[in-house]
Amino acid sequence: MLACRRSVVRLSSGRKFTSCLDDSSRWRRHSSTGMCLEYSRNGDPEKVVVMKETTLPVPTGNQVLMKMLAAPVNPADINTIQGVYAVQPSLPSIPGNEGVGEVMAVGDECGEILQPGDWVIPRVNAMGTWRTHIVAPHTDLIKVPSNADMVTAATIAVNPGTAYRMLKDFVPMSSGDTVIQNGANSAVGQAVIQIAAALGINTINVVRNRPNIHQLKDYLTRLGATVVVTEEELRKSESVKALPPPRLALNCVSGRSGTEILRQLAHGGVMVTYGGMSRQPVIGPVGSLIFSDVTLRGFWMTRWNKEHFNDSERQQMVDDLFQLAQSGKLKPPDNTLVPFADYIVALKNAMPKEGMLGKKQILLF
Ligand SMILES: NC(=O)c1ccc[n+]([C@@H]2O[C@H](COP(=O)([O-])OP(=O)(O)OC[C@H]3O[C@@H](n4cnc5c(N)ncnc54)[C@H](OP(=O)(O)O)[C@@H]3O)[C@@H](O)[C@H]2O)c1
Repeated sequence: MLACRRSVVRLSSGRKFTSCLDDSSRWRRHSSTGMCLEYSRNGDPEKVVVMKETTLPVPTGNQVLMKMLAAPVNPADINTIQGVYAVQPSLPSIPGNEGVGEVMAVGDECGEILQPGDWVIPRVNAMGTWRTHIVAPHTDLIKVPSNADMVTAATIAVNPGTAYRMLKDFVPMSSGDTVIQNGANSAVGQAVIQIAAALGINTINVVRNRPNIHQLKDYLTRLGATVVVTEEELRKSESVKALPPPRLALNCVSGRSGTEILRQLAHGGVMVTYGGMSRQPVIGPVGSLIFSDVTLRGFWMTRWNKEHFNDSERQQMVDDLFQLAQSGKLKPPDNTLVPFADYIVALKNAMPKEGMLGKKQILLF
């Protein structure tokens, strides 16, 4: 049996588990296959995604061999597999845009940059993280703290990154200002609440009504939400009226929900659209445009990352997010850990069928 070096992995729940880490020489002698998910045609993810064995090259030159620890199933992954996302990879393709891995072996040109045992997240978009192992150039990876909570590390780049940028890059916001958002229980929404709270910014959080709405309101309030209202309550809410009018609106739903948060903006406010969960267009009320002179903008993390591939600004964002996480101010989204072999369960639970989404599905390798 192959001996292995053991490392302890932390989970936000406080649980720990021990992962088995082969060292480089053992990898060279013993291990050459891994497992991956793959799809060869667009369609229903439950039907088109299959698990298969892959052969792994030994890392050479500037390459790193990493063992994936955890990777989330995000809406963009689902939409890409369905063929309805704006950008489509050539097929066959391994899905998965983010996740955290542990370095197992490095090529001889990696120097001190990465060492076995380091934790890394993708620097590039669409790395294909739904697989047990990845061989990639070290330049495609970002080193992150290996003592971080594993789910936090697996989910920090896309959604908290989006929240961080939208709070920083569109309207100068300071303590006491207000931001309004819909889809406030989404992973991005939960990150917006927490980052805004850390900055002293008020948040008006709009969610869809549901039978257990009080549980959701309590949960988001505990994260730091100033006000949580349903779409139906928004216009009448006294708690909303008591806050300074929002200068920034963050829209991941569009359709009627987007229109409603746009109506709440202060004079000269900005609405940033970053998602279209309702699959409806953005509709701007004429009054908001003429009398409030609002501005409609869009944000795409993938584009920002490409434009800031190696910039210090990007490293600063990663450092700030991990610092918030390590000080307990940024928790990962409410989640369910799903063993990789049960990926079908994760795909099923990640797709809204009749209404409300559940917890973020995290593939555990
Ligand atoms: N532009 C970017 O760079 C960028 C980056 C990250 C994410 N995104 C986008 O942001 C959105 C949220 O992503 P996430 O990973 O945070 O999502 P998530 O955690 O999976 O949550 C999805 C959210 O969408 C809501 N939702 C689903 N279907 C809906 C519908 N028909 N009408 C209204 N709300 C609906 C859910 O509310 P319920 O609980 O009520 O179902 C939930 O709040 C997605 O559209 C994603 O593609 C964009």
